[in-house]
Amino acid sequence: MTDFDDKFFRNKRIFVRVDFNVKVKDDAISEDYRIRSAVPTIEYLVKRGSKVILGSHLDRPKGRDLRYSLKPVSKKLAEMLSSFNAIVRFSDDCVGPKTSNMVDSMGEGDVLLLENLRFYPDEEKNENKFSENLASYADIYVNDAFSTSHRKHSSTYGIAKYFDTRIAGFNLAQELRYLTQLRENPANPFTLVIGGVKIKDKIGALDHLLPKADKVLVGGAASYTFLKAKGFSVGDSIIEEDYLPWVTKALQAHSEKIILPLDHKVARSENDDQYQIVQTDIPDKMRGFDIGDKTIQKFSYEIHNNGLGTIFWNGPMGFFEKEMYSNGTKSVAVSMALAYWRGVKTVIGGGDTLEAMRVAGVSEKEVTHVSTGGGASLRFLAGDEMPGIDILREK
Ligand code: 3PG
Repeated sequence: MTDFDDKFFRNKRIFVRVDFNVKVKDDAISEDYRIRSAVPTIEYLVKRGSKVILGSHLDRPKGRDLRYSLKPVSKKLAEMLSSFNAIVRFSDDCVGPKTSNMVDSMGEGDVLLLENLRFYPDEEKNENKFSENLASYADIYVNDAFSTSHRKHSSTYGIAKYFDTRIAGFNLAQELRYLTQLRENPANPFTLVIGGVKIKDKIGALDHLLPKADKVLVGGAASYTFLKAKGFSVGDSIIEEDYLPWVTKALQAHSEKIILPLDHKVARSENDDQYQIVQTDIPDKMRGFDIGDKTIQKFSYEIHNNGLGTIFWNGPMGFFEKEMYSNGTKSVAVSMALAYWRGVKTVIGGGDTLEAMRVAGVSEKEVTHVSTGGGASLRFLAGDEMPGIDILREK
């Protein structure tokens, strides 16, 4: 963005792909980090007299379904931009004559948020005509949606070819800076903290990061597949059978680095109002819902012991949405914050992990970098293709 002088942006129509895929419930937005992350780019353009057209998806609607409307987001955005008097309008469609008219009537420094792009299946199909329609609104293309850049959709990919000028927004550029360093050259000691449910989504990133890591702490549902592969009983805990061979191999190759839970909070079902604490083996008919106190101590010790290196955390340590199973996740969040204050580079990725920090009362300012991307950050760390980023590099 800063490679262009200020005059370049003046009175230009700029299509900015943002990722406002946030949780909306009864018109309220609980976690607005993704919206706040896009504000620096929007503010920069507004202050330079651009006409800013914002495109985003929200969730995965099947056609026009107003439960997934971006209207509540436009209200939130207007609040956030009010300090510099930007006028934020909302178009209840993202293509068509009404939207074109709204774009035509924009003045310098105005912002127009388009309705959910995924109300049209053409967005995800990367349909040429749809891409061309979106592109017709603007002179310049900016991608500030790192967290959607692993998708080859109209607004992240197909649209770009219609522009001579394609720019990375501030948030996207910042994500690339931190995540590239993590992927290529993390300062050692390098500790990985892995939790959450799906090992499947993490395999690519782990394949790339495990050889570079000094310690790997595995908690949450992911740990039961690791424990099973090591021959422990896991009762009825969630495991991913299909990934047992991969986990077994990872354990063989990196046995000295991988640290698994020593104890667990278990119950028969998530609705039980009491839990038991068991050591490594989980009895039949019981399911693990959180790491136990010994594990918390061990994981905290390892996080504190990181010296001045790097820690990457992805995925909660248990079913933290339920207060009685939130201790493991909260303790890791607090240990991460303390590590940050001591000078460790800490990076967290994934919407759940951000939510977990909020539950623990840890601010995102107590983390070196909070990635907006869940799937996208793991794909990037795996070294996978990122169509929305690669297409920017072509010009
Ligand atoms: C995300 O939440 O990870 C991004 O917004 C991408 O959403 P998607 O997985 O529905 O494409």
